[in-house]
Amino acid sequence: MVGAVPQEQDLYAGTGTDFYERLVGSDRAEIREVLALARDTAGPILDVAAGSGRLTIPLVRSGNRVTAVDLSDDMLAHLRRALPDQSAWECVVADMRDFSLGRRYGLVIIGATSITLLDRVGRSLLYANVQRHLAPGGVFAFTVAAGASAHSLAVPREQEIRVPGAGQDEIYLFSQQVEPDGAARVVNWVRASDLTDGGEVTVLTSRLQLLSHEVLSRELVEAGFDEPAVSPVRTHLGAEILLLKTSWPATPGPADGDVSD
Ligand SMILES: C[S@@+](CC[C@H](N)C(=O)[O-])C[C@H]1O[C@@H](n2cnc3c(N)ncnc32)[C@H](O)[C@@H]1O
Repeated sequence: MVGAVPQEQDLYAGTGTDFYERLVGSDRAEIREVLALARDTAGPILDVAAGSGRLTIPLVRSGNRVTAVDLSDDMLAHLRRALPDQSAWECVVADMRDFSLGRRYGLVIIGATSITLLDRVGRSLLYANVQRHLAPGGVFAFTVAAGASAHSLAVPREQEIRVPGAGQDEIYLFSQQVEPDGAARVVNWVRASDLTDGGEVTVLTSRLQLLSHEVLSRELVEAGFDEPAVSPVRTHLGAEILLLKTSWPATPGPADGDVSD
């Protein structure tokens, strides 16, 4: 409407990473539940799609050994700055659909409903990778939106939001578009003060699948995991988030690159 020229920028790369940090970096949702899982875990923890370390940081500070995997080195750069001593943790730039770490984990987690970043083929690849990295008796856990929160993700909307800035809050325009088949949504953010007639404006964007816990539970069982236990995650802002927790019943084969191969 103002004649600005949009420049698409992935939310999880470049300047998008600073914005993500400002938007959700202080969100404590899921941490309590993930720390509880970690307390029951023997062996190291694999944080998949770890990003800037919202979950990795409290896990490491609670004394766990953690491998943080993420596709975006820019996101992991925030984590490296937050935890400069890497004696108890490591980070690996890798795609969650295709990684081989050469070791097994007692707990594999995916926070922030990031499993919805993957389409059906991607999720099948993810499940196979998780199986290859789980220790016997290990747990695989991830979160997904439910109830009114899931419903709000499936409805197009546009709104102004305030995002904490270095000095003061900044106004961003947010839009959520739902694809015609209802299978995915595209979310976009533009800083209002960047909009000028004829000027270039960065549009931070991400595409996510609309998935229910029932669909994901079914997929897990089809992939050979145990029927997951589903429990609510406590959130401050009233968001309805569920934690799915499963394990792999079969005796696993050797992980790629296992020293025991
Ligand atoms: C919503 S953020 C979650 C970050 C962190 N776990 C948290 O709880 O805040 C999603 C993360 O998934 C990463 N990501 C997106 N696609 C990925 C893929 N195919 N493989 C690995 N990471 C991916 C992004 O770079 C981003 O850091």
